[in-house]
Amino acid sequence: MSTSFDPGPQSAVLLELMSNYPDASIYPFADFRTEWGPIFYRGRLGGSARMLVIGQDPAQTEGVLRRILVGEAGRRFQGFMAKCGIDTSYIMINTFLYSVYGQTGGDRHSGDAGIAAYRERWIAALLAANRIEAVVALGGLADKAWQHWLQSAAGKAVPAVAYQHVKHPTWPESSSPSKTVQAKNTTQLLSEWNTAIAALRSAIKHPDANRPFVPYGTAFTAADKPDIPAIDLPAGTPGWMRLQDGWASRVGTTPAAKRKTIQITVPNGIIP
Ligand code: URA
Repeated sequence: MSTSFDPGPQSAVLLELMSNYPDASIYPFADFRTEWGPIFYRGRLGGSARMLVIGQDPAQTEGVLRRILVGEAGRRFQGFMAKCGIDTSYIMINTFLYSVYGQTGGDRHSGDAGIAAYRERWIAALLAANRIEAVVALGGLADKAWQHWLQSAAGKAVPAVAYQHVKHPTWPESSSPSKTVQAKNTTQLLSEWNTAIAALRSAIKHPDANRPFVPYGTAFTAADKPDIPAIDLPAGTPGWMRLQDGWASRVGTTPAAKRKTIQITVPNGIIP
């Protein structure tokens, strides 16, 4: 059996970025789960990416798999990219290297110079190494990150690229505790995503697949959430970690215990 996997960074610039990254002096423990380490990216590092995606911050599934956007948000966005004709030719980074702790940590640090400077070294490296045809920001903080890059000297020096700022894939849940409002907000998000995808499809000249655009309906279906490709994950990652979601959760009876603990449960049906 042969299984593909992500070989990781090969270029000197990315090896350097992953060797020397901001620590808790830049990402304070009070607002980031710095103890779980930085999680840098998901996707192609070798120069074949056509879409650059900026997410927000990693959650517990990302903390285990060491790749970003691999849980529910990642699966939803994998479907968005598929509707753009992009199956594997993407590179994703997050606005924040570390998981945000608390409701307001992200907003509080969205303008931090040290955070932006490191993130923009990644953006510059990825734009230089890939022929990126479209950039997508997921949520308001990711949009701020992209706008900040555009205003930087390096950002002004590179040619303009098609850009869409869309609602974050889990905005329906984060915007309301009520299931009724979540359902309404999902319908709104999918309608806005349909508009963004139509614009992106015209901008992306070299998609992985030239398939007809089937717009979203009013709710996510199972088919709207494709699997995370094996080629995006470190060698030896068990299949169920990318084919299923919900196997990692933060557990604990106090906030401190919960912060320390990620519980991983092998899903039913895996162990014979
Ligand atoms: N996981 C990530 O890595 N980024 C997000 O924006 C959401 C979940």
